[in-house]
Amino acid sequence: MDGFHIFPTFSELSKQDQELVVNAQKATENSYSPYSNYRVGAAVRLASGQILLGSNQENASYPAGLCAERVALFHISSTYPDAIVESIATVAKRKGDTKFKPVTPCGICRQVMLELEIRQKSNIRVLMQSSDERWITSENIRKLLPFSFEQDNL
Ligand code: THU
Repeated sequence: MDGFHIFPTFSELSKQDQELVVNAQKATENSYSPYSNYRVGAAVRLASGQILLGSNQENASYPAGLCAERVALFHISSTYPDAIVESIATVAKRKGDTKFKPVTPCGICRQVMLELEIRQKSNIRVLMQSSDERWITSENIRKLLPFSFEQDNL
């Protein structure tokens, strides 16, 4: 799988990536998810080294809610418009569970990540856990969203 790296255990990730995952885990604490009881956390590392967080925010009008990744990325784009996003880690756990469940970013979040990657002209790495519990990094978003729809299609 060109463009992807597989790490059978958490401890095989680089220290920087481990730090990002731990931050994403921390972000789940601020998830507002009374409807799904599924707490998602995202942690984003900027090229400056700064780490920013997001968590899923739900609403009684279900489609009004937003995924953790987009909460983080839209916050960054609106607050630090010149920031370069280097990596993003996503984790999730069910309310009441102690153990995190493997999760990969949803299609809409990949779409948003791709447009940011194109805008900033620099790859965004994604750090996630596949269903077999191995850790996966994708070197960029384009690999995660093949045959994508984008600005040039308009
Ligand atoms: N969710 C995320 O925050 N990120 C994803 O990539 C997948 C789904 C959230 C949306 C909703 O609040 C809950 O998980 C259940 O779908």
